[in-house]
Amino acid sequence: MMKVVLFLLLLYRLMKLCTAWGSNIYTLHVDNGADIQSQSRVLVTGAAGRTGRLVFEKLKKDIYFEPIALVRTERSARNLIKSCDLCGLEHVFVCDVVKDLNIDEPPEELEGIDSMIICTSAVPILSKRSLFSALLKIPVNLIRRRKLVDFRSLRFKFKEKQNPEQIDFGGQVAQINLAKRLKMKKVVIVSSMGVTDPSHFLNSVGKNFDGSGNGDILLWKRKAEKYLIDSGLSYTIIHPGILTDGEPGLEEILIDVDDKLIEYGDRSIARADVSSLCVAALTVGKEKNVSFDCISSNFDNSFSPKSAEEVLTDFLLSGKTANYTL
Ligand SMILES: NC(=O)c1ccc[n+]([C@@H]2O[C@H](COP(=O)([O-])OP(=O)(O)OC[C@H]3O[C@@H](n4cnc5c(N)ncnc54)[C@H](OP(=O)(O)O)[C@@H]3O)[C@@H](O)[C@H]2O)c1
Repeated sequence: MMKVVLFLLLLYRLMKLCTAWGSNIYTLHVDNGADIQSQSRVLVTGAAGRTGRLVFEKLKKDIYFEPIALVRTERSARNLIKSCDLCGLEHVFVCDVVKDLNIDEPPEELEGIDSMIICTSAVPILSKRSLFSALLKIPVNLIRRRKLVDFRSLRFKFKEKQNPEQIDFGGQVAQINLAKRLKMKKVVIVSSMGVTDPSHFLNSVGKNFDGSGNGDILLWKRKAEKYLIDSGLSYTIIHPGILTDGEPGLEEILIDVDDKLIEYGDRSIARADVSSLCVAALTVGKEKNVSFDCISSNFDNSFSPKSAEEVLTDFLLSGKTANYTL
């Protein structure tokens, strides 16, 4: 008799356990309206960069996404794997978007990718010669009571075959063509604020004093944006202000269009907040084609800022998007 009671008790516990397990799965499906069996595969390019890495990590922590990190070199791959606990060798695809992307034969590793978040960019490096000459002037500046280092005299250069025309235009066009070839459902670009102003100082970075040389980074970025818009792919284009490495969610994210946010004194935003907007573009912004600017601002410490998803949802309701005829 005792054995029967024990058996029934065990059976009852087992049934309860199964029901709880089943209901958990059921709730997950119903509440979130998605099936975790079919994660969305997202290619994050420039994933070893400072914003790309955060986008990758954010997606990796989200059960609905399966991110793949595209990095330029094996060295970048090693750096990413070392700094990101969630990133293993199996999540990384090494590819130089300028040299290695063959659209006619897309790499097998990229099959089944639903969307892409482009975080690649040409990166200017400080010219050693200009730094050396600025340092030589320090004693004279000290005697004349001038600013010790005139930062305007410093020059920046792009490495060979890594200038804005090649990376921010050519490299992005290659990525957009890949997205078309793989029939991706969404492409998100992290571009930059200031793209409506051809005389923006960032366009002079990389050029010589006489205006020759490679530069025009914002102009090339804008050209790539137009290429994406004309491609027929679904897109979200994000123009952040000055990027910082601050914590996410500490300030209110502000979104507007056509460089109007430049009027704000502090035009910065944390890379972590930009990465949240990138992910929001794949969720609440999935169905919309939109191009916008973003910064963050701490207006009032007494309330907690809205999440990136809430801010983007509100903005999308406004129906605004950047004007590309400017
Ligand atoms: N810095 C700012 O204040 C600011 C402000 C507004 C907007 N933005 C824009 O925001 C975006 C993200 O900026 P960030 O500072 O986070 O970027 P970042 O750290 O400079 O990263 C750029 C990434 O692009 C990768 N890359 C460059 N050429 C490539 C190629 N041919 N193939 C594949 N990958 C390539 C680099 O790879 P490696 O690591 O291998 O070199 C690097 O990981 C950029 O578009 C930037 O222009 C920046």
